[in-house]
Amino acid sequence: MVANFNFRNGTLYCEDVKVEEIVKSVGSPAYIYSKKAILDGYKEIRDAFADAFPLVCFSVKSNSNLSILRLLAVEGSGFDVVSGGELYRALQAGAHPKKIIFAGVGKSSEEIEYALDCNILMFNVESLAELKVINALAYDKKTKATVALRLNPDVDPKTHAKTTTGKRENKFGIDLGVAERIVKEAKRYDTLQICGLHVHLGSPIMSPEPYVKALEKIKDFLPLCRENSLPIEYVNIGGGYCISYTGQPVCKPTDYAREILPLVRDLNLKLILEPGRFIVGNSGILVTKVVYKKETSFGKRFIICDAAMNDLIRPTLYDAFHRIWPVSPRVPMPEVLTSATPNPPEPDLIKVDIVGPVCESSDFFAKDRFIPEIKAGELLSIFSAGAYGFTMSSNYNSRPRPCEVLVDGKTFLLIRRRETCEDLISKEIG
Ligand code: LLP
Repeated sequence: MVANFNFRNGTLYCEDVKVEEIVKSVGSPAYIYSKKAILDGYKEIRDAFADAFPLVCFSVKSNSNLSILRLLAVEGSGFDVVSGGELYRALQAGAHPKKIIFAGVGKSSEEIEYALDCNILMFNVESLAELKVINALAYDKKTKATVALRLNPDVDPKTHAKTTTGKRENKFGIDLGVAERIVKEAKRYDTLQICGLHVHLGSPIMSPEPYVKALEKIKDFLPLCRENSLPIEYVNIGGGYCISYTGQPVCKPTDYAREILPLVRDLNLKLILEPGRFIVGNSGILVTKVVYKKETSFGKRFIICDAAMNDLIRPTLYDAFHRIWPVSPRVPMPEVLTSATPNPPEPDLIKVDIVGPVCESSDFFAKDRFIPEIKAGELLSIFSAGAYGFTMSSNYNSRPRPCEVLVDGKTFLLIRRRETCEDLISKEIG
């Protein structure tokens, strides 16, 4: 029903393993990922853009578990990293340094030096100040740094304000005016090789249009680079490819590619993509156990579970919608579930707020949601939690983070153990 998560005989399976069986073994809450769904996602986006022989650089911030990065590295994926920590993870997972690109507005000197030492493919540079620092550090190391200019094309990706990155008021990228100056003065930066142009507009982006608009701006900018003899070899259109959180059809990689590829062909540059969510989003769920049910005298019902905003913060932070349904439901899960369900579609559904134990009213997974009757001790599945789920988790309220499990056919593997209370204090001194 969702990637490789299917209900069979009234209970949820990930590939060929019962989710209940996994939880019996590893406890709750738990992130559970399907290996096949991850690899299928990677291949789907790579193949959609195959005409341009793209370098797909998986965006590590969406899911940085080593086992998952390793799966993708073996498949030939590159990696988009935004910190020394992500670079370290990618290398530990076996990534080829020449398939790693490094973005981010605040790269420290230490991070830049580390990346230069690792000989990564390129930095996506986000300001003139950063460009100068990379130039100086490369000079000190008697090496050349390969960089792409991350342009801020001032294109509206028509997504949530908190995940919009390509508009002029956003902190990301170099606006076209400053970029023009950099290109004209490029000779000054003689330890840099400016080999690419990069944009990342936001996430998720529901249609190809914003990419097309950004590519048109790149097309207009490219002649200036050529006139100034910059060896531009790559165009990187970033990430943002959407997934369906509701079960309704959304734009697919082939839909993006149909509009994007002709423009890339015109530019005659090598293509880089940085998908995160598309590859892992629907490949993972967060399973949580109902701890208590509570009903007020005003008739409001709460389902209190053992996972909380510290485990999955997307609903709290972005009002994000995630499908939630019991793992062994009394009513089958509909193909499509949306937030705008005004009346119970079935008489045997109950209207609830699904919340966690954290001491904040912002600790919720869903409000006024219709789900089948469920008892304390039973499990709920929160779908589409594979991207920006575990990676955005925290220890808030001193809650140990959940474990992570990777399912492969009939077997499953613990790929990160559950944290313990000892883990919580292990780095504190004195
Ligand atoms: N490239 C760059 C430079 C990025 O900043 C991002 C995401 C990506 C690629 C990957 O975007 P994706 O393909 O996964 O959409 N926490 C938010 C999403 C923040 C995205 C940040 N940058 C969420 O949970 O929706």
